[in-house]
Amino acid sequence: MKRIRKAVLPVAGLGTRFLPATKSIPKEMLTVVDRPVIQHVVDDAREAGIEHFIFVTGRGKAVIEDHFDIAYELDRTLQERGKVKEFEALKADLPQAGQTSFTRQQAPLGLGHAVWCAREIVGDEPFAVILPDMLSRGAMRQMLDAYDRHGGNIIAVEEVPEDQTHQYGIVATGQDHGQTFEITGMVEKPKPGTAPSNLIISGRYILQPEVFGVLAAQETGAGGEIQLTDAMKKLMGSQPFFGMRYEGRTYDTGTKLGFLTANVAYALDRQDLAEPFRAELRKLLGER
Ligand code: UTP
Repeated sequence: MKRIRKAVLPVAGLGTRFLPATKSIPKEMLTVVDRPVIQHVVDDAREAGIEHFIFVTGRGKAVIEDHFDIAYELDRTLQERGKVKEFEALKADLPQAGQTSFTRQQAPLGLGHAVWCAREIVGDEPFAVILPDMLSRGAMRQMLDAYDRHGGNIIAVEEVPEDQTHQYGIVATGQDHGQTFEITGMVEKPKPGTAPSNLIISGRYILQPEVFGVLAAQETGAGGEIQLTDAMKKLMGSQPFFGMRYEGRTYDTGTKLGFLTANVAYALDRQDLAEPFRAELRKLLGER
């Protein structure tokens, strides 16, 4: 079985749910505690063993490329001022030269189209797709473990209340293997009351390269966009798909509530911040 080395990170979306913050700053660069959302996601995938990050960007997203480059003047200044800890931390965060690739989607035609734009860089091997606005700590490790057990295609899922299923891609479940299960169907944004389950596709995928062939047809689906869910659904006829129940909590930083909650949760997990931050929160909550 081929190892998963590469991850595609589609970052060409417009982030309209987070205006005006995202007018000139990509939503992936908004910070959760002291690092951009995209850095959290890359760290998590690097820890799991992903070696190459393929960013599918769009206009106004060049700052993401700068973020994953050496900031030469800054490094030099930090060294000259003896800020060794800060310098080392910056270095540790950075994938090596050659471990990142950037390509442009050119027009925001949908997630499926964004993934298709990475086809030449991925080549003929299975790969991961990571939606970088979804913060799911440890998810890539769990995905790769599931892939080691099953092979094929793996989709991370999470439960939502039934009245929210119409906002997401939903899977239908077959044989259960505990944390994982066979997927027997998929639907993108089902009409209320028609969803086959309450398990949403939550932003982490491992896909076989044949998906590019399906996406090449550029068929549009829900919202007039080229949907990844539709392409996966087509591929289900010829390839196995497994769902992986992510054990952990996902924060959708593309929404205001998810972003704010992520900041609180990540700050409370930080040794250097937890205690004083908790005290501030108590004060605030006591006042309201
Ligand atoms: P979202 O549905 O979150 O869309 O896309 P968005 O445009 O980023 O945000 P809103 O809805 O306008 O607030 C899910 C993921 O797919 C990427 C986004 O960057 C995000 O990571 N995407 C979506 C693309 O890269 N290209 C597209 O054409 C659409």
